[in-house]
Amino acid sequence: MNQYSLADAMTDKGNFTVPKLSESNMGFGVLGVFLGLLLEVSTHGPHAVPRTSWRHQDLDLMEFSEPGIFNYSTLLLSEQGDALYVGAREAVFELSKTNVTVRNNKVQWTAAEDYVHMCTQKGKSKERDCLNYIRVLQVVDSKRLYVCGTHAFQPQCDYLNLTDFSLTGRPEDGRAKCSFDPSQSFTTVMVDGELYSGTSFNFLGSEPIISRYSPFQLLLRTEYSTSWLNEPSFVFADVIHEGQNRVEGEDDKIYFFFTEVSVEYEFFGKLLIPRVARVCKGDLGGQRTLQKKWTSFLKAKLVCSMPELNFVFNVVHDVFILKGEDWRDTVIYGVFTSQWGNVGLSAVCAYNMTAVEDVFSRGKYMQKATVEQSHTKWVRYNGMTPSPRPGACINNAMRRQNISNSLHLPDKTLQFVKDHPLLEDPVQPIGNRPRLITKDVNYTQIVVERVRALDGRIYDVMFTGTDKGVLHKSVVFEGEVHIVEEIQLLKSSESIKNLLLSSQTRSLYAGSDSAVVQSPTAFCGKYPSCMDCVLARDPYCAWDPQTTACVNIFETPIQQHRMLIQSLDGDADKCPSVPLIPPKAAPRSTREGQRVVVKPGSSAELPCTAPSNLAQLRWTFNDSALTEASRFHLVGESALLIYSVAPEDQGVYKCWSVEPVAALGKNFSRPLAAYALELDVPPPPPPLPRQWAEDLAPTDLEQEPAYSAGPAEGNGKTDVALLTSALAPSTLTSTVRFTPPPQTDTSLTPPSGSSAPLRPPLAPPVAAVPRPDGGDPSAEYLQRGNSAALLALFILFFLLFLAALAYNCYKQYLPAPCLRLRAALLGSHKSAQHHQQPEYRACESGLMEASASEKVHMTEVPTQNGGSQTTVQNLRALRDTGYETEPECGNGQVASHGFGDDSSSQEKPFDVDCESQPIQFADADEPYC
Ligand SMILES: *[C@@H]1O[C@H](CO)[C@@H](O)[C@H](O)[C@H]1NC(C)=O
Ligand SMILES: *[C@@H]1O[C@H](CO)[C@@H](O)[C@H](O)[C@H]1NC(C)=O
Ligand SMILES: *[C@@H]1O[C@H](CO)[C@@H](O)[C@H](O)[C@H]1NC(C)=O
Ligand SMILES: *[C@@H]1O[C@H](CO)[C@@H](O)[C@H](O)[C@H]1NC(C)=O
Ligand SMILES: *[C@@H]1O[C@H](CO)[C@@H](O)[C@H](O)[C@H]1NC(C)=O
Ligand SMILES: *[C@@H]1O[C@H](CO)[C@@H](O)[C@H](O)[C@H]1NC(C)=O
Repeated sequence: MNQYSLADAMTDKGNFTVPKLSESNMGFGVLGVFLGLLLEVSTHGPHAVPRTSWRHQDLDLMEFSEPGIFNYSTLLLSEQGDALYVGAREAVFELSKTNVTVRNNKVQWTAAEDYVHMCTQKGKSKERDCLNYIRVLQVVDSKRLYVCGTHAFQPQCDYLNLTDFSLTGRPEDGRAKCSFDPSQSFTTVMVDGELYSGTSFNFLGSEPIISRYSPFQLLLRTEYSTSWLNEPSFVFADVIHEGQNRVEGEDDKIYFFFTEVSVEYEFFGKLLIPRVARVCKGDLGGQRTLQKKWTSFLKAKLVCSMPELNFVFNVVHDVFILKGEDWRDTVIYGVFTSQWGNVGLSAVCAYNMTAVEDVFSRGKYMQKATVEQSHTKWVRYNGMTPSPRPGACINNAMRRQNISNSLHLPDKTLQFVKDHPLLEDPVQPIGNRPRLITKDVNYTQIVVERVRALDGRIYDVMFTGTDKGVLHKSVVFEGEVHIVEEIQLLKSSESIKNLLLSSQTRSLYAGSDSAVVQSPTAFCGKYPSCMDCVLARDPYCAWDPQTTACVNIFETPIQQHRMLIQSLDGDADKCPSVPLIPPKAAPRSTREGQRVVVKPGSSAELPCTAPSNLAQLRWTFNDSALTEASRFHLVGESALLIYSVAPEDQGVYKCWSVEPVAALGKNFSRPLAAYALELDVPPPPPPLPRQWAEDLAPTDLEQEPAYSAGPAEGNGKTDVALLTSALAPSTLTSTVRFTPPPQTDTSLTPPSGSSAPLRPPLAPPVAAVPRPDGGDPSAEYLQRGNSAALLALFILFFLLFLAALAYNCYKQYLPAPCLRLRAALLGSHKSAQHHQQPEYRACESGLMEASASEKVHMTEVPTQNGGSQTTVQNLRALRDTGYETEPECGNGQVASHGFGDDSSSQEKPFDVDCESQPIQFADADEPYC
């Protein structure tokens, strides 16, 4: 038996039969894998950082909400009219899509009294559940929308007349079209007047269904079987029209995306698998077999993983289908996280439509294992497949065989597809890896816009919404992903529930529990200088040297385009060189920079904020690099702090932004601020304050930053030319912000440009801090170490895990490894084989617990998405549920490479050097060495 890790299991292309994960050591091993991964992935894994962050208050976003109305989670953009339809709790709105603050229409739809009564009788909450949450808004024709709501756990649908914006008041049964539970996952799409839904068919939410409702036909649905749908969380559905250039006479197809509990892999607890399923539009069900059921339902696994780190993103949260002119240009984008959500990583994977089609039209089927193969649950089906191909849409070849619709399909084909809805071949992402990996976010939504930049190339710009109300905008340039910006779209930190994009209004619309927000797709105007504009690498933005502004190329006449400067690889050298600033009208600031006068022994704080999250700040003192180690300096993110200023600290401090552009292998430097630090020789002369005030007059700062050239004071031969020549005029006026950081008594901050205090507060001398001898100030620059806290967190996490493990071992909940651990701790070094018997017994008793608790699990309402479990919970799940089915105890097979109990392991989950750093636990079990 080949050794497998979970990642292999989930990414393998099927050279083997399905790996099993139920080996009794496995739970332990897998936990180890994931802990190892947590450390590994979060410290070394690739992940992108947004270049710019916009706070909500920095932007002027349009927002709509009405008092007392919540859950603005269903959005529908009108193609022709200027309308954005919003389905909220007990109301439907028509907003202007050019300005969502304008409400054109509203209709209220509350659940009827007797339904609410029934709902509360069944134990649901009146305030939370027994309301009418609008979840379906679909266009029927130019005059009507189809609207469905949960209607106090009795879903109902109605037609909304757009001419007078009223409901007919003759609701239809909404079962199979809309969910009962407003918090349950749900997706729907209207295709040619027929409503396709992925939802749940019953009150408990335990009967998943993919259905088609048509006013003219009987409901078509999925078979109620775990091999068809196993606790799915539906995220998205859409149609792919085959178009005219399809010769085979193929049908249009409707694709559903969801995460479900794996049937094919054995695992402790529930292993989630992202899926794509599809049905054919022309499906009518079978004649005898699969009556009123899909004859074309097939599903396959979506792979989104980092193969080199063995890390799998196995929960899909949203999908966007970017449709090309030709269906072959269509790309499916999905946002994923890991079931083990505490890793804090999100990913975007993209799939070629051709690859999806290939899997469905040529992939191998999977089959439930027979008794002899009992160590796996599902295996590849290697026998003969009936003809026509089970699950295929009706095409010309079938029509030639007199099969013109699914009712004519032979029973053999139908019986086969009924038993084999799962395909073995997975859908691999383009490039076999995620497009984007981001740390510390949970993406919930995605939309993608395809734009042509000034270089004539096509870029897919990804907009991803998070569970904290933030939007990320990212682009891939030559295989390297760049997050242009992050935008705090929502006022509060809540989840983005829905995200739509309109190329026509160049806007994004985000729905959340509290409001609908409209945001432009680009914020070019917020980049003040050419360097900022170009380094942003935003395909929407370019620098206009004539107006000296960063402009949106889609709002600029085409004939001006060749004048614009855009470099998507971030080559800021394309920016015009900046003329030397004439040293006019700067007599009051020193030549080197803004004067800062402090008392000896007090501390000084020189503010300087990086213009982007990628830029690093560097400070120079008298034109040589300043290091934190060299003196009593503290280089913060927004200021340089100099403790206990001594005479030798006097001089010129300059703050530089150094921004790397990986694509070019270049660093772009530019000065941001300069200060001339002077000691205030006591007693301070009375005229100083007035002069200070003059120096820092607001007009002075706006027109002429303090560090621009002026009359020499002190050694005037410093490189003012160097400093100023690198500066664009606009950089001077707007990037240099002398914002005072949070004021502390012991610090002195140069006043901000707008309201300069007459005299900066002078700090009392910092007492009794011995000054070290000056080191070498030209030593290396300091770098920010943000990951330290994270690392600490994971170490803590790991210690917790060890504690939990130890406890469980002590209690004999975990069979094999801990018996050895116990033995080791108790001093009796028995070899592994001697434990076969007790191990087996422990496993057996675990089994009995398992079957008892499994019953409980059956009646449980499936949880939404399964989301994240802490490792301790995983551990508990391991103890509680045992191994879901067919557990195998002590048959000595090793299912995960590297985590067996013997020497065959090849990889270490932790970077533990076992010789130099003996860990008792590791010694005892030797799983890592
Ligand atoms: C509806 O909105 C309220 C208020 O924000 C929130 O607490 C609740 O969870 C939401 N319900 C659903 C089903 O989204
Ligand atoms: C998808 O794959 C097909 C065939 O391999 C290729 O021709 C097409 O360009 C790909 N499309 C995209 C968007 O990568
Ligand atoms: C299809 O039907 C036609 C007429 O009903 C018949 O002549 C023909 O032989 C049939 N073809 C096949 C392949 O069954
Ligand atoms: C992501 O979601 C999980 C589960 O909801 C939560 O535990 C985790 O803290 C979230 N992470 C971030 C960075 O928001
Ligand atoms: C830094 O330059 C200033 C003049 O600009 C000079 O007075 C001071 O002594 C210099 N400090 C050091 C440590 O070289
Ligand atoms: C850019 O700066 C970083 C440190 O800030 C340095 O490690 C890197 O070598 C520099 N790259 C180039 C091309 O100068």
